[in-house]
Amino acid sequence: MKRSIKATLVVRNIGELATPTGREAVKGRAMDGLSALSGAALAVDVDRVAWVGPESEMPDFTGPAPELLDAGGRTVVPGFVDSHTHFVFGGYRDEEFLWRAAGVPYMEIHRRGGGIATSVAATRAADADELVGVGATRLRRMLELGVTTVEGKSGYGLDKDTELRQLAAMDRLDALQPVDVVPTFMGMHSVPAEYKGRPGDYLDYVLKEVMPAVKAQGIARFCDIFCEKGVFELDDTRRYLSAAKAMGYDLKAHADEIEPLGGAGLAAELGAVSADHLLKASTADLRAMAAAGTVATCLPLTAFVLREPYADARAMMDAGCAVALASDLNPGSCYSQSIPLIFAIATLYMGMSMEAALTALTLNGAAALGLAGDRGSLEPGKLADFLILDAPSYRHLAYHTGMNLVATTVKRGAVVYKR
Ligand code: NIG
Ligand code: FE
Repeated sequence: MKRSIKATLVVRNIGELATPTGREAVKGRAMDGLSALSGAALAVDVDRVAWVGPESEMPDFTGPAPELLDAGGRTVVPGFVDSHTHFVFGGYRDEEFLWRAAGVPYMEIHRRGGGIATSVAATRAADADELVGVGATRLRRMLELGVTTVEGKSGYGLDKDTELRQLAAMDRLDALQPVDVVPTFMGMHSVPAEYKGRPGDYLDYVLKEVMPAVKAQGIARFCDIFCEKGVFELDDTRRYLSAAKAMGYDLKAHADEIEPLGGAGLAAELGAVSADHLLKASTADLRAMAAAGTVATCLPLTAFVLREPYADARAMMDAGCAVALASDLNPGSCYSQSIPLIFAIATLYMGMSMEAALTALTLNGAAALGLAGDRGSLEPGKLADFLILDAPSYRHLAYHTGMNLVATTVKRGAVVYKR
């Protein structure tokens, strides 16, 4: 006898349903595998996936008739999880983009007192409503590009009030619109002008004044730091991340981006959920990350904009790492949230198969936020976050180069965007 289940929404006529599987990060070469089912259907009960399989085996539905969505023979994939962004900020730095295009290095602008400091000044000058306003615009664009969960970092305040204001803006945005916003405290993004040349004193201030206030408000899930030569080096990074861990935060680090300091190895040693950038990470540190289960998050749009050699994602997979891909959307090194360009760079220049790239932007992105048990793949019990792509196969995500294929975005079982 046929099973009967309860459903509020049923998607039929799916030409291809492609999804990674499992409730944990997919590690190493296993990322090259994927479940791709043709002639599929998907049933949703309220906000969760209730059933997925061949349309010919679809169960009966009890109770009120579910809403029907015809995928028109097109492709369904999980919603994208952009696990590394700095999307709440004031102002822009378009002049710096042109300086860098003319050859001035990113860290040279930073040393001259521009870079992050310019965005800090603009963000300090922005009130809460302004930050919510610009954040909402960027989130709307994410939905169009198929992003259903995004991580956002503070770090353009570098003082207690502004850091709290940035985090509070993300909290409001999470409630205001469909994309789930996962907040990260990144007060250790740069040394503010008031503490110039005294990173240790600034760290004291962050640990004594800022982090306890953030903790008291419960508005950050992760703590992150820019571990880089001339910003915060290994000793400060260890002190900060250890203190954050003791306060109950999950850890992230911007590591080994411009100079090979060993931040990735430190992140692994401290059990960080992810280490990000990794353009210069050593093989030994990648192996340590694989062993510790620290997700290796690659940010190809930043390497593209800064004209740095891309991270070798294939070497990371060979070392056994779970690789995630994310945008790093921010006003300086990467004012882009182009998911299509990420797929193109990952497959053409970083040694990733299309299957690995899709896994990296879905299940492994979720894992980089500690959410792999809850989302990132289309399986019963997981959040019903998925996309209908205007394409016959998920492979077109890279092949139809640089194009946005998202026709429909479904978040928690509701259609929230339709082209
Ligand atoms: O991830 N590397 C440090 N933080 C950002 C850039 C921030 C900025 O330039 O405003 C990043 O690339
Ligand atoms: Fe970043």
